[in-house]
Amino acid sequence: MTDRFLRACRRQAVDRTPVWLMRQAGRYLPEYRALRQRVDFLTLCKTPELAVEASLQPLRRFPLDAAIIFSDILLPLEALGCRMTFNPGPRLAEPIRTREQVAALDRRAAAETVPFVGEAVGLLRRELDGRTPVIGFCGAPFTLAAYLVQGEGKEGFGALKTLQYREPATLEALLETLTAAMIDYLRLQISSGAQAVQIFDSWAGLLDSPGYQRFALRWVRTIVDGIADLEVPVIYFINGGPHLIEDAATSGADVLGICWRTPLDVAAARVGPGMSLQGNLDPHALFAAPDEVRRLTRDVLARAAGLPGHIMNLGHGILPDTPIPSVEALIDTVQHTTGKAAQPATETCRR
Ligand code: CP3
Repeated sequence: MTDRFLRACRRQAVDRTPVWLMRQAGRYLPEYRALRQRVDFLTLCKTPELAVEASLQPLRRFPLDAAIIFSDILLPLEALGCRMTFNPGPRLAEPIRTREQVAALDRRAAAETVPFVGEAVGLLRRELDGRTPVIGFCGAPFTLAAYLVQGEGKEGFGALKTLQYREPATLEALLETLTAAMIDYLRLQISSGAQAVQIFDSWAGLLDSPGYQRFALRWVRTIVDGIADLEVPVIYFINGGPHLIEDAATSGADVLGICWRTPLDVAAARVGPGMSLQGNLDPHALFAAPDEVRRLTRDVLARAAGLPGHIMNLGHGILPDTPIPSVEALIDTVQHTTGKAAQPATETCRR
């Protein structure tokens, strides 16, 4: 089994830097688009055999060091009684903006409401047969609340920020419900076989530091504490939050996912010791020619050189039109410029 990903999460020695890509299963792959011709997105997520197929597609093409279960951060919210569609982004049938709506959210167990996610994780583990570790995931409560309150992904999330200031207690009640649901949801994934979990906080950057501590960080900490006994590494990815790095470093997670806006050496100095870092090539960099992708990848690796536990990744999810040769160039560069053979020598040869 290639356990370099799990070892890096724990800051143990690795033979080379592990690499996987956020949103690695998705529309940039022709085989994913072919799968989507046959079934709609929600059916794909809810049918374990198909979800596993989608998770495996990027692994068949690229030598990735981790698999991520195919689902969506919004999916477990259906289990709370929220109805939604994807086209391609999520849209809620009814945004949640009142105390009464929060109180009416369903609180049944994930094993009962989203059993297909547990089944898909178990099936993926068996299919991979120990070759590649499986990552489970959930949305961070604040990011989930952003979609629930706004009703859709929308620049600025005005309805969310209005609720934050006008009725903070309602937002907190929603966050509390989401936190309990996500602990239960991650526990289901871990007991089904997930060997690490990632918490996606895609919209935490909408908050200033005091707001972040109150409406985002506190709840992420509760999730990390709520699964600590299961002893799997936790990755906390925060997008758009260069102003929040010091705060985010106190989440209790093992790994902090850094978005593409902050160079990793700068982030490392601000995070301090005791956490692995994941990231952080700008997803748009993959639209450059492959040679430029190699150069930019080497730059990220050089900034992370010497850090215990760097996990190479993008600094946000891969974009739908990303050219596949660029993905190959990124992964190949990680494989050939890190590891036992001294990297500086490889660098010199290439130049
Ligand atoms: O390999 C993987 O990581 C796939 C599993 C996965 C998906 N969504 C599948 C998906 C994961 C980990 C996610 C996370 C997710 N979903 C996040 C956090 C990461 C981030 O990008 O910030 C967020 C904010 C969402 C919400 C969401 N779901 C959006 C905004 C969209 C539409 C825009 C987009 O990027 O496509 C979705 C739909 C979605 N989720 C698709 C996929 C493959 C596209 C649906 C389709 O096939 O038509």
